[in-house]
Amino acid sequence: MADVSAVVLVGGFGTRLRPVTYAVPKQLVPLAGQPMLFHAMDLLPSPVTRITLACGYKAEAFEAYLSQHPYRLPVKVVREAVPLGTGGGLLNGSVGASDPFVLVNGDVISGLDMDPMLEFHLQHGGVGTMSFYEVDDPSPYGVAVWDSEQRITNFVEKPPRESAPSRWINAGASIWSRELLKEIPAGREVSLEKEVLPRLLDQGVYGFPFRGWWEDAGTPSRLLNAQRLLFDHPRVGRFTPRCHLPGAQVIPQVATGKGCEAAGATVGRYVTLGDRVQIGRGAVVEDSVLMDGAVVGDRAEVRRSILGPGYHVEAGAKVHDRCLANEGPAPKP
Ligand code: GTP
Repeated sequence: MADVSAVVLVGGFGTRLRPVTYAVPKQLVPLAGQPMLFHAMDLLPSPVTRITLACGYKAEAFEAYLSQHPYRLPVKVVREAVPLGTGGGLLNGSVGASDPFVLVNGDVISGLDMDPMLEFHLQHGGVGTMSFYEVDDPSPYGVAVWDSEQRITNFVEKPPRESAPSRWINAGASIWSRELLKEIPAGREVSLEKEVLPRLLDQGVYGFPFRGWWEDAGTPSRLLNAQRLLFDHPRVGRFTPRCHLPGAQVIPQVATGKGCEAAGATVGRYVTLGDRVQIGRGAVVEDSVLMDGAVVGDRAEVRRSILGPGYHVEAGAKVHDRCLANEGPAPKP
């Protein structure tokens, strides 16, 4: 089908990833060699020809990044003066949206194949089709049940674990008819999940369950798990990480940006280095993300950690299970 558009929501504050998100919006944190946002956009079904980024917090960072690193499809950045929530952000970013259009959260990391999902949506013809993934504890997410035709009969946002109606959670990628937009009140903050979706179920919203892998990269430990999943499941034909670290002992998988130096250091497994990262002799970096210009001193150890742009780790220091950046309040010891 011709001309399908997508809206990608990236307007949140990413509070659970502070202090790194004081420096960089969550979706520009690199995972397995490219920003989280690019992995989310790689998920879009193949008929998608244009993308609108619904931005709020640090919108200028997205504009700057995309101007230097264009995505393979045209991406229009739309700003919110005040946070409008998931529903308001969608409405603000929906000018010129196709019918149907695709909606993705910019922090969705998953093995979902949206091509069959789009076909399913076109065949069933409801107002929307939402993807769902099964987890042990659905309580932090939106949870749904559906009937034998996959029509959602109940959707509850963040239910208590004991009373969750199922273990299938909103996986953050959906396809909608433009009818949805008429249901979103304009000019104020609106939660799509809490306010709009429950009212829409009567019009026919379908569940598209999938198995495989999925992660919500919203916390440091989940973000690092998302990176492991991305390294282990490359999306063939979309992106291949590169690694150039002369003189380092590299334990795959490792992805590097431009101009990194790590001679005499051990790097890997599951590491992303941004541009110009320097790692000293005898240092070890494992299961971590080090953003542009980060420096690790000689014999230091960085494991299961995220270091923001330009962050320095002193020689011999041990940094384990930390999320650190130069910006924001000083980290507690
Ligand atoms: P936390 O503050 O750590 O909860 O992260 P978050 O702000 O990203 O919130 P959450 O993960 O719940 O948001 C899901 C998706 O919706 C993310 O891609 C957010 O960037 C996006 N989002 C959340 N609030 C807004 C908003 O007000 N406007 C827009 N455009 N997007 C939003």
